[in-house]
Amino acid sequence: MFKTISVIGSGVMGSGIAQSFAVGGYSVIVNDIKQEFLNKAKKNIGENLDLLSKSGELSSEERDAAGERIHFTTDLKSAAENADLIIEAIPEVIELKWDLYNELARCKKKDAIVSSNTSTFPISKLTAHESFEGKFIITHFFNPANLVPLVEIVKKKDTNPKLVQSIKDLLLSIGKSPVVLKKEINGFIANRLQTALMREAFSLVGQGVADAEDVDKAITAGPGFRWAFVGPTRIADFGGLDTWKRVFDNIAPDLDKSEGAPELINQLVKTNKLGTKTGEGLFKYSGDEVQSQLKTRDNYFLKLGRIKKVNE
Ligand SMILES: NC(=O)c1ccc[n+]([C@@H]2O[C@H](COP(=O)([O-])OP(=O)(O)OC[C@H]3O[C@@H](n4cnc5c(N)ncnc54)[C@H](O)[C@@H]3O)[C@@H](O)[C@H]2O)c1
Repeated sequence: MFKTISVIGSGVMGSGIAQSFAVGGYSVIVNDIKQEFLNKAKKNIGENLDLLSKSGELSSEERDAAGERIHFTTDLKSAAENADLIIEAIPEVIELKWDLYNELARCKKKDAIVSSNTSTFPISKLTAHESFEGKFIITHFFNPANLVPLVEIVKKKDTNPKLVQSIKDLLLSIGKSPVVLKKEINGFIANRLQTALMREAFSLVGQGVADAEDVDKAITAGPGFRWAFVGPTRIADFGGLDTWKRVFDNIAPDLDKSEGAPELINQLVKTNKLGTKTGEGLFKYSGDEVQSQLKTRDNYFLKLGRIKKVNE
């Protein structure tokens, strides 16, 4: 059913999504508003494909073939008119998305499916002006989309179950791990879980309970180590629900319950300490440290992905 996938928006997410489909054997068209953005995406995708061939994940022929399956254009019409699935990955600004959907409705194939990579907008808001006659769905990839398997699928109440199944099958065919939400909720599943945990992480650092380094290690060497293979609800079953009842009853009253961004983040943002983009956040970064940390991260993710593929 799906042969050609168009990705609209070639930024952080769009380039990773495009790469995932090209490696999975699909023909991909990437669209952006300026050629310079497409050039940057092409370079990033090339480097990420190199990582896959250097690590043995792809042969050099497979690497080249994946690269050749991706076409780049600033012409929205030519990107949309031949696609079976159009994935929107433009900035999280509702008016921009609505304008794009109006244009897509005019130039896409009648049966083509449109999906959004939105992180925050409910599907009912996205389709407030253009419903695409039920052929619209949310496919929420995780950054870096070329390496992280999770894709959250959000449907409308009346979305045809066959459409959901076909998107799920498509994602499985490129090695992704799709999950389907039974109903709409702000933040979907993964970002709600992640935000709950990060609120407490920042609170612990802010209260001076531990350094950021040790708070991170308490996750990567502890719960995070388990979570790559055993999720939190099953961990509770293994630990015993009577034990977990006592854990919740004893600890939950003490957890941070603030309703906005943690105070520590507010303070850092006020002083323009925004993380890697300004050279300092919770940690300091100098020279090409960020690039080398990202490379190390991607190599670990690649290895973890390989272990998960073998075991699932
Ligand atoms: N960055 C993340 O970690 C992340 C994770 C999951 C989901 N998302 C979501 O994915 C979407 C894209 O985020 P991103 O981080 O890749 O953004 P980004 O800013 O890196 O990239 C967006 C790209 O879209 C292009 N663009 C803007 N308007 C366009 C238009 N009308 N037509 C074609 N291209 C257009 C921009 O030029 C830019 O290259 C957002 O909805 C975001 O919320 C982001």
